[in-house]
Amino acid sequence: MGVELITNVSEYEKLAKEKLPKMVYDYYASGAEDQWTLKENRDAFSRILFRPRVLIDVSHINMATNVLGFNISMPIMIAPTAMQRMAHPEGELATARAAASAGTIMTLSSWATSSVEEVNSVGPGIRFFQLYVYKDRTIVRQLVRRAEMAGFKAIALTVDTPRLGRREADIKNRFTLPPHLVLKNFEGLDIGTMDKTNDSGLASYVASQVDRSLCWEDVKWLQTITSLPILVKGVMTAEDTRLAVENGAAGIIVSNHGARQLDYVPATISCLEEKNVHAHLDQNCQGYI
Ligand code: LAC
Repeated sequence: MGVELITNVSEYEKLAKEKLPKMVYDYYASGAEDQWTLKENRDAFSRILFRPRVLIDVSHINMATNVLGFNISMPIMIAPTAMQRMAHPEGELATARAAASAGTIMTLSSWATSSVEEVNSVGPGIRFFQLYVYKDRTIVRQLVRRAEMAGFKAIALTVDTPRLGRREADIKNRFTLPPHLVLKNFEGLDIGTMDKTNDSGLASYVASQVDRSLCWEDVKWLQTITSLPILVKGVMTAEDTRLAVENGAAGIIVSNHGARQLDYVPATISCLEEKNVHAHLDQNCQGYI
């Protein structure tokens, strides 16, 4: 029997469910709590319909655009997702190669299972680094410095995770990083592993390490430790868009964290329509993603 041909991206989900250990599949697939927003993220997209115009010469098409001045082949980028080696031994390295060959930007998670240096070693490519701010700011300084040295072009500061969202499957599965893997950017530090005795290793890791007092002042502080542009990731309102601009962000990433943080928030795509989000950005800031 031959390998079944994949004709629709949604088929990957079924295949992943067959191939991956349940704990791993559930971690990647789950949203927070009732998973209302998880469903809404898809439903809202499907409510936005095309309005096709005809008799336009499409013999040559060009979807290229630019983000923070970097040219990319299409208006699609790869968002940060954690711990990719749980799915495949090449993990983030394969994703970095795929992004480069597609001519687009990959954002590497702080909680990658490959280090910034390893990802850089796959070859040329435009890459951003997603940052969680740790209570221990020495760690943050070192990490940002390493990302700079490894050629990353922007910092995507995640601002929607003072606590980890309550992902009920992870609680049931007692999710933790499999023992053969490590959060590679923290290897050698005692924060490179997760406590395996708790109900959810990641939730207690976040509670013990991530700075819950993070506020707009810290966006300014980040600008004092790096010259890289800072994108504030996890913004969903016009008010916070304005504050991001006022506090020196180079852009925002409108995101509900794949519905993995606060449940019963609108779909990310719906937030783009919020009054004045565009206006604030157009005047003051390079753009949103
Ligand atoms: C998550 C974090 C790691 O959503 O971003 O699981």
